[in-house]
Formats: sequence, structure tokens, C-alpha cells
Amino acid sequence: MGFREWVLQDWAANAARPESQLILAWFRLAQWASVRWGRLARLVVTPYWLTCSMLFGVELPASAQVGPRLRLYHPHGIVVSPHCTLGSDCHLRHNVTVGNRVDRDGNEAGVATLGDHVELGAGCAVIGDLHVGDHARVGALAVVVKSVPAWSVVVGNPGRVIRVDEPTAVQEPE
Ligand SMILES: CC(C)(COP(=O)(O)OP(=O)(O)OC[C@H]1O[C@@H](n2cnc3c(N)ncnc32)[C@H](O)[C@@H]1OP(=O)(O)O)[C@@H](O)C(=O)NCCC(=O)NCCS
Repeated sequence: MGFREWVLQDWAANAARPESQLILAWFRLAQWASVRWGRLARLVVTPYWLTCSMLFGVELPASAQVGPRLRLYHPHGIVVSPHCTLGSDCHLRHNVTVGNRVDRDGNEAGVATLGDHVELGAGCAVIGDLHVGDHARVGALAVVVKSVPAWSVVVGNPGRVIRVDEPTAVQEPE
């Protein structure tokens, strides 16, 4: 992927949100720099980190693996662990946390990973060594501490799967 394509890969998905477009373009630039520029990358990564965390409360580290077309619907109070993986076309609302859980001894027990097209509702926390399947929708204020399957709808604390919306296969005419 070329430089312009890389930096603007989330632009269209955030068409109505110029602040999200700018945060994500800067995030992609920070990722680009981290991989290619060695110690000089700090000239991009540090201002990116300070501006986004202090102005928006968005902590989206350049080291996180994030698929294309990430959408930040309200880019406020979003925290993603540096070791997380988010698939393509994910959608995060405000006050979302995607991260780890730490035991009493301070040991990190792994971080959450999101599949493709995962939607996280406002204020939810997806924490620990777990996977959220493709197309899952996590409700506002849910706390997800176990893996959930693709196409699931998850609500509550602790998060429980209330439905699986997997589309039925279309029968091809013979
Ligand atoms: C979870 C969610 C994706 C489900 O949407 P849906 O499939 O249309 O679900 P329904 O409205 O059919 O609700 C199904 C059940 O879950 C309950 N429910 C829905 N959202 C819930 C939530 N966030 N927490 C707890 N229960 C919830 C409903 O009350 C309903 O319960 P019932 O069957 O006992 O009546 C959606 O409600 C949600 O929370 N989306 C996030 C939206 C958001 O963050 N908006 C912020 C504005 S930017």
C-alpha cells in the first residue's frame, strides 16, 4: 500500500466526522513512521500521542494492529491496548476500552482481539484474553470478559450473548 493510501485508509469510513478523520490519519502516519523511521519516528508518534490523549482522551497506540476503515463515531475516551488486534471495518463509540486484564500479581493475561466488522457500543469494555467474532455487536456499557462468536449481540455486565444474527445462506436456484 502506498503512503497516501495508507494514511487515508480510514477517511471515507469517517466521512461525517472530521475530527475522527484527522485522528486516524495521524494514527496511520504514526504507524508508518514507527515501522520505517527508527528513532526519528518519535517526532511523529509523540505529538500524535500527546495531542490525541490530551485533547480527545483517545489512546490508540501506533503499535496496535488495526485493520482498514476503522470508524470512531464519537472520538472521546477511547482506550486501546498497545498489543490489541482489531480487524477491518470495526466501529468504536465513545468511552470504549479494548484491552487486557491484570491479576493480583500484576501479570497480564493477554489482550482482546476483535474480528472484522465488530461494533462496540458506548462505554463498553472488552478486556482480557478473548476474541470477539466477526460482525459481533457489543451493547452500550457491556463488559465482555469471554470470547463471543461471530454475529453475536452481547449486552450487560458480565456480557452475555442474547442473540446470534448470522445471516441464513441464500439458496442458489438449481
Ligand atoms: C446491543 C445492541 C447492539 C442491540 O441492538 P438490537 O439488536 O437492536 O437489540 P434490541 O433493541 O432488539 O434489544 C434486545 C434486548 O437487549 C436489551 N438491550 C439492548 N441494548 C442493551 C444494552 N446496551 N444493555 C443492556 N441491555 C440491552 C433490550 O432491552 C432487549 O431486551 P429484551 O429482549 O428483554 O426486551 C444495541 O442496543 C446497543 O446497545 N448498541 C450500541 C448503541 C450505542 O452505543 N449508542 C450510543 C450512541 S452514539
